[in-house]
Amino acid sequence: MKFTLATVLSAAALASAFPMAEPEPLFDERQAAQSINDAMVAKGKKYFGTCSDQGRLTTGSNAAIIKANFGAVTPENSMKWDSTEASQGKFTFTGADYLANWATDNGKLIRGHTTVWHSQLPSWVSSIRDKTTLTTVMQNHINTVIGRYKGKVYAWDVVNEMFDEQGGFRSSVWYNVLGQDFVKIAFTTARAADPDAKLYINDYNLDSASAGKTQGMIKNVKAWVAAGVPIDGIGSQGHLTAGQGANAPAAMAALCAAASECAMTEVDIQNGSTADWTNVVKACLGATNCVGITVWGVRDPDSWRPSGNPLLFDSSYKPKSSYNAVLAALQ
Ligand SMILES: *[C@@H]1O[C@H](CO)[C@@H](O)[C@H](O)[C@H]1NC(C)=O
Repeated sequence: MKFTLATVLSAAALASAFPMAEPEPLFDERQAAQSINDAMVAKGKKYFGTCSDQGRLTTGSNAAIIKANFGAVTPENSMKWDSTEASQGKFTFTGADYLANWATDNGKLIRGHTTVWHSQLPSWVSSIRDKTTLTTVMQNHINTVIGRYKGKVYAWDVVNEMFDEQGGFRSSVWYNVLGQDFVKIAFTTARAADPDAKLYINDYNLDSASAGKTQGMIKNVKAWVAAGVPIDGIGSQGHLTAGQGANAPAAMAALCAAASECAMTEVDIQNGSTADWTNVVKACLGATNCVGITVWGVRDPDSWRPSGNPLLFDSSYKPKSSYNAVLAALQ
C-alpha cells in the first residue's frame, strides 16, 4: 500500500499538534486502504471478523489492525473447555474475560467459541460414561460459560465439529454416551443461558455443496429445527486450500438454505489466490442470510497452519493482495 506525502505531512502535523498522543507507530490507526468491516456492513452484513486472544491483542500491531479493519472477534482458544473448566467445577475466565472486555470496550461483536466439542476437551470429561453425569456436566458448563457473557455475545458456536466426513456423527464422548440427543440438550441449555445470542452449529470441510459432510449437516439441521431444537445458524469454518474458493458460493447457498442464518466462521486459504478470496466474499454476499465472514487470525505467521500464508496480513502486519481482493469484492 502507498502513503502519499500529504498523508505523511498531515499525520506529522497532527502528531506535533497533540504531543501527548499515545506513542504508537505513525500508521497504526489505518494499516489498510479501507476497513473490510465497514465495506461488509455497507453491503448489509453484520461483520467482517477475525479471531484473537489476550496474547495476540497485546503483541505487535494486532489490536490496532483489529480496531481499524474488523468488526467482530472470536476467541481463538480462551473460551474452549480446556481453558475455562480444566478441572471439574473450577472455572477460569482470565483469558475469556480479557477478550470479551476488549471487544466490548472497542465496539466489536463477539462470536463465542465453543461449548460442546470433542477436542481441547479435558480427559475428566471425555472419560465420563454415565448419561446423567455427562448431561449434568454439559449443562453446568454451558450455563456457566454462556451465562457469564449473557447479553454480550452476538453468536455462540454451541456445538462444534460433530460430523464425520461422510455426514454421519463423529465418534465422541458426546455422541457415544448421549446419542444425537446431546445436540438438543446443548442447544436448549444454551438458549436458556442467553436467550439473545444466536446459536450455531459449526464445522469444517463444508466447502463443497455435494460433500457428504455438507449434506449431512443440511439434512440433520433441518430435522433438528423441525423438531424444535433451537439452532439459529450454520457456521462453515472455511479452512481452504488454493482453488477451493470456487466451490464456496454453491456450498454456502446450500448450507444457508437450511437455517435462519449462516456465516463463514474460520476462513484461511493456504496459497489462496485473489480469486479464492473473491469467491469467499461472493459466497457470503450471495446468501441473503449470511451474516458475516470471520478469518482465523490476522497475520500469516500467527495462523494455526501458517504454511501457504493463509491470511490477510503479512508478517510485517501489512495488508496483502488477499486483503485488497476482499475489499474489491465488497465494492
Ligand atoms: C504453498 O505453496 C508453496 C510454494 O509452491 C508450497 O511449497 C507449499 O507446499 C504450499 N503449501 C500448501 C499448504 O499448499
